[in-house]
Parts: sequence; structure tokens; C-alpha cells
Amino acid sequence: MPIKTFIANLPKAELHCHIEGTLEPEMLFALAARNGVALPYESVAAVRAAYRFDRLQDFLDIYYQGMAALCVARDFYDLAYAYCEQAAAQNIRHLELFFDPQAHVERGVAFGDVVGGLSAALEAARRDFDLSAGLIMCFLRHLPPQDALDTLALAEPYRVRITGVGLDSSERGFPPQPFAEVFARARAQGYRCVAHAGEEGPPSYIEGALDALQVERIDHGNAAIDDEKLLARLARQQTPLTMCPLSNLKLRVIDDLSAHPIKRMFELGLRVTVNSDDPAYFGGHLNDNYCAVADALGLDAATLAQLARNSVTASFADASRQQQLLDEIDAYVATAAESTVAD
Ligand code: ADE
Ligand code: ZN
Repeated sequence: MPIKTFIANLPKAELHCHIEGTLEPEMLFALAARNGVALPYESVAAVRAAYRFDRLQDFLDIYYQGMAALCVARDFYDLAYAYCEQAAAQNIRHLELFFDPQAHVERGVAFGDVVGGLSAALEAARRDFDLSAGLIMCFLRHLPPQDALDTLALAEPYRVRITGVGLDSSERGFPPQPFAEVFARARAQGYRCVAHAGEEGPPSYIEGALDALQVERIDHGNAAIDDEKLLARLARQQTPLTMCPLSNLKLRVIDDLSAHPIKRMFELGLRVTVNSDDPAYFGGHLNDNYCAVADALGLDAATLAQLARNSVTASFADASRQQQLLDEIDAYVATAAESTVAD
């Protein structure tokens, strides 16, 4: 069996995907037309041509601009349902989606429309695809911590529909520590806590996320590769890292996929996972990310299966769902072993 086929049929979870980053140019135009929103692009091709980035901020500027087309609950529903359909086709069996409420509320969209549309789509996906899914509300770190506190308060009526909180947006110059209070409050309310760290920022931002925010997972975490002590800590604590290879390539966090730290981290025993981040912008969905690292780093089927197991055990799915998915992976690996997996 070709490795690509092995990956395509491997049951897996996705833990690092921004729902706004799944907005394909075709849907961007359709939603803009439906809502009467003017776009600064002539065509789908012009939008795709604009997706050239030298750093995270280049991408974020375009990403926030694209959100203008998302106006009402139905838009969020359509976006999330379309992604769940795509996820199911890739044999993603559990999905945790980030969303950026501040970027919508500041444009006048009601918080309840954002969460209502997204959570209804996830409910439908559970029914239609047997896909379990959760929402993680991210705070934008380029905005003041008080904004994040206000957002947490806005979320209170919707608490049961949101699994966790995260921290994203521009990293350099925005360390995690100022968000300690909002994370402490969120944790007290039962939210699971994660944060982007070490994508463009230094290893100290990863330590800050672990110590000041007490996160359970680090999103990205690439910079840990430069810090032996931190690598040892992440391995000892088994802190999951949700890594995003094609995103790192597109945003020039790495020059070449062969330089991606995921393989060395895996070999050191860190609980690393593969994710797509913003698939509409970075040229690949989750299975493309698995294929790209398998190819560039020479990962074999056993390693890929372990990465999929990591995605399940690092997830916020309950214990019985995790066990069900681990059993699915084991059964799949046993069947695949009967036909040799080759390049
Ligand atoms: N928001 C969406 N994608 C992001 C990324 N890769 N880093 C930080 N914030 C983001
Ligand atoms: Zn991200």
C-alpha cells in the first residue's frame, strides 16, 4: 500500500485548526455576495495569488480581512459544516476547532451568532459523520488582556458549548504572561487551556505558556528545538505539541520541510502531533501535512500511526471516545500490515 493511501485511511484527530483559516476563496466570494460585502479582490485567482507570506503577520493581515465575509450565524454554520465534511473525508474522527471571537465581535457580529452557528454545525457533523468535535475560543494576544477578560465574560452564557480557551495572533513582542489572569479565570470555569507559543517567538514564550498560563498543550512549539532543557521538560511532562508543518513552511518558520523539528522531537519522546492550522491559506489539508512530513523526513507507517495515536491522547475527547479511536487505529494498522506499506 502506498504511504499516501495509508495516511488517507488512518483514523486521526485534528487539534490545531482555525475555523476562519478554512475559508476557501470560493466560499469567501459566495459569502461576500450573500452578505453584500465588497472584497478587495477581482477573482478567486487574485485571492490565491495574494497568499504569499514572508512571516506570520503577512498572513494575519489577509486572514483578518477575509473574516469580513462572515456576518451571521448561517455563515459560521456553513463554514464549519463544510470543514467537517472535508475532515470526515480525510478520516479525521475527532476535531478541535479554534475560533477568534474578538475578530468578529469588534465588527459588530453577535457572540451568540458565532458560537451558535459553529456549535450547530459541529452537532450536525456528529450526527452525519460520527465526527466528535469541540470548540476552543482563542484570545488575540495583540489586543489588551482586558479585551480577553471581556470576551471570557461574553462567553459565559455559552459555556457548555466551548471546550477550551487558547491564545493566538501575532506572537513576537506579545509574551503570554499578561494573559495569566484570564487563563486562571477560564480554568476556574472549567475550560481546558492551550496557547500558541514558539511559532515565531522564543523558547521562553513556551515556558511562559506552561508556567504563567498553565496550559495543557502548546500550539506549534517549534522553538523548543533550540533549548535542550525545555525539550527534556516537554518529554518528561508529555506536554502535547500541536505542530503544523505546511503552515511553518508557508510562513517561513522553516526554510525547508526537511528542517522541520517534528522528527527529532518524536525521537526524543515528545508527544508531537500533526495539524493543518489554516488549510485554506497554507496549501494543504491535514492528510497533506502528514504526507509532506512523511516524504520530507522519511517517516514510516509505524511512526505515522503513533502520530495519530498522539493526536487522540492529546485531545480533549472523553476517555471512552479516546479508547474507541485508539482501537480504530490499532485495527487499521493490523489490517494495513497485511499489505506491505511502501512509498
Ligand atoms: N491565527 C490563525 N493562524 C495562526 C497562526 N498560525 N499563528 C497565530 N495566530 C493564528
Ligand atoms: Zn494556529
